[in-house]
Amino acid sequence: MFSVFVSAPNPDDPIAALELGERPEPEAPDGWTRVEVKAASLNHHDIFSLKGIGLPAERMPMILGTDASGIDEDGNEVLIHSVISSPGWTGDETFDPKRSLLSEVHQGTMAKYVVVPKGNLVAKPAELSFEEAACLPTAWLTAYRMLTNDSRLKPGNTVLIQGASGGVATAAMSIARAIGLRVWVTGRSEEKRQAALGHGAHEVFETGARLPGKVDAAIETVGEATWSHSLRSLRPGGTLVVSGATSGPNPKADLNRVFFLQMRIIGSTMGTRTELEGLLGLCRDTGLRPVINEVLPMSEAKRGFQAMVDGNTAGKFVFTN
Ligand SMILES: NC(=O)c1ccc[n+]([C@@H]2O[C@H](COP(=O)([O-])OP(=O)(O)OC[C@H]3O[C@@H](n4cnc5c(N)ncnc54)[C@H](OP(=O)(O)O)[C@@H]3O)[C@@H](O)[C@H]2O)c1
Repeated sequence: MFSVFVSAPNPDDPIAALELGERPEPEAPDGWTRVEVKAASLNHHDIFSLKGIGLPAERMPMILGTDASGIDEDGNEVLIHSVISSPGWTGDETFDPKRSLLSEVHQGTMAKYVVVPKGNLVAKPAELSFEEAACLPTAWLTAYRMLTNDSRLKPGNTVLIQGASGGVATAAMSIARAIGLRVWVTGRSEEKRQAALGHGAHEVFETGARLPGKVDAAIETVGEATWSHSLRSLRPGGTLVVSGATSGPNPKADLNRVFFLQMRIIGSTMGTRTELEGLLGLCRDTGLRPVINEVLPMSEAKRGFQAMVDGNTAGKFVFTN
């Protein structure tokens, strides 16, 4: 079956590691089921996989992709909760130390078919297209958990979102606006900042700019390049929620500021199946929809990967079969 995959990592040139071509159709083991993929979306996780980060060479060839919507074996329209728990795990899936995301241990979603545990299928609301639904299981779910479970924000509070155009960043600004927060966004270009105003931001700022006031929480996926700015922007007792480190994982910790101002730093990863259902309900009931940069046929996926590596994103890239 036609697939987007990696056979050998390339830490310096991830696009050189990207392969498009034939891979064997997956067989569903007991308790798993096969989904015909209609749409899969691109995440920065896929770029890290091409570099070999979180995906050692011995697990390759690996089909990329953590997000998908499609048709299950009974003909139902579904999307996939991408957190694969270890057998017998109960409770919050994100706390399972042996969990993985699709494309880390099991083959990913950028193909004609993907196999997943039956419990990872979630009904797709008819109101959402396959392309929209395919944006939700990774970037959007992560942003949803960061804002609703981790940030302690209440309607009327102010949240700082670092990054104007990324998948998680655009999800965070859209969701934050929908749940009644005041939304401040930083972005690296005027074009991206202007676009953010259309995706939920009340005010936009250059990356690292002094803000007009302190914020109640900061949403971090950028890492080294924005970490100090996030800490400096928080009010005493504020919360920094971090789920990614695109620009590097080792910022200056600034511990004096953290303890003196009694800040909370909360790590966050993906979300539970129940949270994914909550996010779907929010989309269905409020009309909230993912910010899609471009929908491309799976055979043209390289264009989306290249744009993400170059930092030329404006929401999510979606690949269709
Ligand atoms: N823990 C989890 O479960 C989880 C889930 C999803 C994603 N993540 C992580 O979150 C990160 C973002 O993922 P994504 O899919 O949203 O990636 P993406 O679409 O490529 O977005 C990248 C974002 O990072 C910003 N950025 C990158 N380098 C920057 C720099 N040097 N200075 C300032 N801003 C910079 C960009 O800001 P501009 O818009 O201003 O260019 C953009 O908003 C990745 O590290 C990913 O692995 C983690």
